[in-house]
Amino acid sequence: MISNSTAIPHPVAVMVSGTGRHLDHLATLAASGELPIDVRLCLSTRSDIGALQHAKRWNIPVQVPDEARELSPEAYSDLVFSALEQAGVKTLILAGFLRFLPIPDAWQNRVLNIHPSLLPAFGGAGYYGHRVHDAVLKRGCKVSGCTVHYVDNVFDHGPILVQRTCPVLDDDDADRLANRVFLEELIAYPEALRQHLSVQASG
Ligand code: GAR
Repeated sequence: MISNSTAIPHPVAVMVSGTGRHLDHLATLAASGELPIDVRLCLSTRSDIGALQHAKRWNIPVQVPDEARELSPEAYSDLVFSALEQAGVKTLILAGFLRFLPIPDAWQNRVLNIHPSLLPAFGGAGYYGHRVHDAVLKRGCKVSGCTVHYVDNVFDHGPILVQRTCPVLDDDDADRLANRVFLEELIAYPEALRQHLSVQASG
């Protein structure tokens, strides 16, 4: 039996549209050996976002498929998943990624997403980043949190792997709440990936 310390890291790609704090955190955990993943590729929706600085610092190759957004969702999906197959990637991690991506059958339960609310509340098209936290505050929620789930072909909908909660405080604004939720996200994503990897290893 192979122990965790000698296991070959699982090849992943991280897909981004924003500042890339998750990309940086996952690359840090990979480098320290705390998470047995090999971040082989960063796919981005744009070539001018903060996340790409993190990719550069970690020497992760970057691709920006269809930056002009000219392709249909299906053609975009073909481009993305053929890049992943070519790079030998086994799992795709969406981390602040904001574009609809149809998932081919062969990739069901191999694409993970993190969302900054307790799904199914405050999910779906139009709910991302601060829009989520604004809506949570407006509704008067007393608890919020984050969700890591497998991605299916409906926005923010697939089977849930991990949820973590945090309180919503009376004097919160969207920034303060986003920061509190993000601290939970930093725990939730590695936890969900460990779960996913153990399923992969046993399958
Ligand atoms: C995270 O808070 C993540 O939950 C959210 O974007 C942020 C990405 O931060 N994702 C969504 O809103 C997706 N619907 P990062 O780019 O700094 O990693």
